[in-house]
Amino acid sequence: MNKLCIQGNKHLNGNVIISGSKNAALPILFMTILTEEKIKISNVPNLTDIQIALKLLIHLGAKIKKDKILHIDTSSINIFCAPYYLINKIRASIWTLGPLLARFRKAKIFLPGGCKIGSRPIDLHIHGLTQLGATININKNYINAHVKGRFQGKYIFMEKISVGATITIMSAATLAEGLTIIDNAACEPEIIDTAKFLNSIGANITGAGSKKIYIHGVLKLKGGTHKIIPDRIETGTFLIGATISKGYIICHKTEPKHLTNVLIHLSKSGAKITTGKDWIKLDMRGKRPKSLNIKTAPYPGLPTDMQSQFTLLNIISTGVGSITETIFENRFIYASELIKMGAKIKIKNNTITSFGIPKLISSDVLCSDLRGSATLILASCIAIGVTIVNHAHHLFRGYDSFPDKLNKLGADIKII
Ligand code: UD1
Repeated sequence: MNKLCIQGNKHLNGNVIISGSKNAALPILFMTILTEEKIKISNVPNLTDIQIALKLLIHLGAKIKKDKILHIDTSSINIFCAPYYLINKIRASIWTLGPLLARFRKAKIFLPGGCKIGSRPIDLHIHGLTQLGATININKNYINAHVKGRFQGKYIFMEKISVGATITIMSAATLAEGLTIIDNAACEPEIIDTAKFLNSIGANITGAGSKKIYIHGVLKLKGGTHKIIPDRIETGTFLIGATISKGYIICHKTEPKHLTNVLIHLSKSGAKITTGKDWIKLDMRGKRPKSLNIKTAPYPGLPTDMQSQFTLLNIISTGVGSITETIFENRFIYASELIKMGAKIKIKNNTITSFGIPKLISSDVLCSDLRGSATLILASCIAIGVTIVNHAHHLFRGYDSFPDKLNKLGADIKII
């Protein structure tokens, strides 16, 4: 699964079914630690990040059964320490901290890993938990934390908008004594889905999806079932694939409302877009895209997780376009691989400027992060010749059956 051989010069046409959201499934899996009762979760995508999250829960003592849905029983959790070899693999593992502290009052976890896209600090998670009453020491790469009694509800202003820290604070506040208000909270749909799940098992959270989230702490949570929302980044990636290949695509089982900003930019680039309740149709046949000038921003702005895909769009568009990355530093590593394929780009600080060319050419390329790998694969599908994509394991962390889905749309991708 580490190397792909891709025959290029293809148009991507047809229907694709979108999987459940990675970035909603991961926090929700870790939130199950908060309850002793049984949970069933459906629409969980098949990804290596999810497999690692499940291994981590099993390591802590949870019992997990998988058929069409996931059955999770965390009543048997009896380990509060998460080791390097699991934590180091996914950034999302930080979400064990809040729930372990809230339910068991203690936790010891290794500092989290994940994609190499900048420094990715955890100060906001630590600060939030400390304000709610935790005592936290970081020693030799381990976070050692405990809380005396229940967390105590507080007003918390987030100095920086963070998806991860908003979820950590929400998880801890769910079982706290009194009211917690998270001000300047992240508004991403994945936060709303996490709050919806927690409310369905007895939490009292309002305002998720807005800048202020109100969490009235409860004593105990119960069991329940939840269906994960569709993956908006996977949807956006397929829409870009159709746009750059002059194709025609219908994405099914998605949520168009979560992609408003992405769709506005694709329309500006020349795509004809129609949407229904759970589908998006994009027609780019016979047209070359027009380049765009955009900035990534917290939701409802353009997602940083779509930055590399939009850069690819600019690279093969007419005119000069630029994308400014405002969320993470060091998120242009993939760009040097696109230069090997003929891209004309210039990077200055956090802005990447593209001078559009009509065609890319094949090469040997190397993936170094999740979204960048999807971008290199899309670039290979439209390049002239055969491209070898190395280190493709990054892709499988966050895209369910991506080569299969692309092949059904007319790509020619072989896993070597
Ligand atoms: C999540 C997503 C990731 C997405 C990102 C931004 C998951 C598993 N990952 O990542 O796909 O790219 O949101 O939409 O859901 N920051 C701090 N201190 C902290 C935490 C964050 O300074 O304690 C900074 C980060 O360095 C970054 C910004 O805040 O500059 C946003 O990070 P955050 O929203 O927390 O991203 P993640 O939760 O890591």
